[in-house]
Amino acid sequence: MSQLDIYADDAPQTRLASLTDARDIAGELARVGVAFEQWQATHALTDDADQASILAAYSDDIARLRQLGGYITADVVSLRPSHPDRATLRQKFLDEHTHSEDEVRFFVAGSGAFYLHLHQRVFQLTCEKGDLLSVPAGTPHWFDMGPEPHFTAIRLFIDPAGWVGHFTGSPIARQFPRHGE
Ligand SMILES: [Fe+2]
Repeated sequence: MSQLDIYADDAPQTRLASLTDARDIAGELARVGVAFEQWQATHALTDDADQASILAAYSDDIARLRQLGGYITADVVSLRPSHPDRATLRQKFLDEHTHSEDEVRFFVAGSGAFYLHLHQRVFQLTCEKGDLLSVPAGTPHWFDMGPEPHFTAIRLFIDPAGWVGHFTGSPIARQFPRHGE
């Protein structure tokens, strides 16, 4: 289930709110300038669908979003718990960082948690199938795929070659609940 948990950034033990209704989640995130939507596939996808079939199933929404955000390319990333490098891959974006362009992710399958650090709050959004999140450029955030990662996601980029994390050096991410533990 998609879920938004909100904390004060200095009180990781105290959840201020927990939302599971998609409209409530979208409304709460819109207040801090973050886009959240739910999309429907135009046809059924199997768990081993290839990139072309996945992009085709969501082509209308992808086209709309590309136009809105100026995104040039779309690709598909997929991880399963058996991946030999899962621990290294999980670690990659597990500490607070920013990007110079939006981080746009749509979950085709599985789940993962984004943590957005905005207005002295931490917004922990657990994304599942059908969830689209756009983290605005420059927003401090981190991402946890969990110790047994299982997700397939569409990514939208302006420039995939420029996709790097700028780490803030803050230990904040380690104080908040992890995903899937
Ligand atoms: Fe990121």
